[in-house]
Amino acid sequence: MKVARKIDGKAKAAKLTESITLETATLLEEHGIKPGLAVVIIGENPASQVYVRNKKRTAESCGFHSVQHSLADDVSEQDVLQLIDELNNDPAIHGILVQLPLPEHLDELTVTQAISTAKDVDGFHLVNIGKLTAGHMADTFVPCTPAGCMLMIEDEIGPDLSGKNAVVIGRSNIVGKPIAALLLQANATVTITHSRTKDLPRVVSGADIVVAAVGRPNMVKADWVKAGAIVIDVGINRVEQTIDGETKSRLTGDVDYDDVSTVAGAITPVPGGVGPMTITMLMANTLRSAQRAAGLDGE
Ligand code: GUN
Repeated sequence: MKVARKIDGKAKAAKLTESITLETATLLEEHGIKPGLAVVIIGENPASQVYVRNKKRTAESCGFHSVQHSLADDVSEQDVLQLIDELNNDPAIHGILVQLPLPEHLDELTVTQAISTAKDVDGFHLVNIGKLTAGHMADTFVPCTPAGCMLMIEDEIGPDLSGKNAVVIGRSNIVGKPIAALLLQANATVTITHSRTKDLPRVVSGADIVVAAVGRPNMVKADWVKAGAIVIDVGINRVEQTIDGETKSRLTGDVDYDDVSTVAGAITPVPGGVGPMTITMLMANTLRSAQRAAGLDGE
């Protein structure tokens, strides 16, 4: 029997995108500024191609100036850095995103650190990570996936997480570490777990809020989860499933949705949960960057 409420990330993202579109029109009308987003994709990674296409489509639907640079798999680091330099200096561009993962010969740190901190809408620059960690939110960019997760958690239990135990599963730089910083800032008591954590199910069972971001399909089970907990599933795993002799691939999260739904208070589905919110937060960060460039606060 299901008890959990399904958190509809798709509907929430659509509503937010609508208000971003309205604000974008106002910015253009009152200040003559159109938010500009440049997305750089290197190589042919099929999942990255899908993500980038969705980002471009959403940027266009918000009324942004949207450009995509598709670079060959064997592009030199120097050429990538030169393109980033051009985008850093282009006044029509307010947000720059280089889709990860990069081909092996390119150094992720070198590339992400080349992006201007003022256009770093992914929030991957060490300066912006430092500001986030130190709680200086006014002039940083919060990474998109954690920002989207926090909005969904806030919707469920409000902005103040005092007295709540939050357990983050996964310690990646893109999700685990920044979401932990955000939860801490909202006054939650935060535990970050990872592959070396002892007795993970026991640790998770103490959580009022669970954020799963490990990339292991259906790992989190009902008997790990406290009754009534909020469960946010960041995993996007492609798995093969054979039904009636026919093998199909489908997306699944890190949480066993049907199982955990029997105990959780609220849970995000995959797809249709965190994913759409991530793209919307990229649009929010780009709009905010354009507003800052115009000397507006953007808050
Ligand atoms: N690859 C997977 N997620 C992300 C993201 O949020 N930003 C970028 N640039 N690449 C990603």
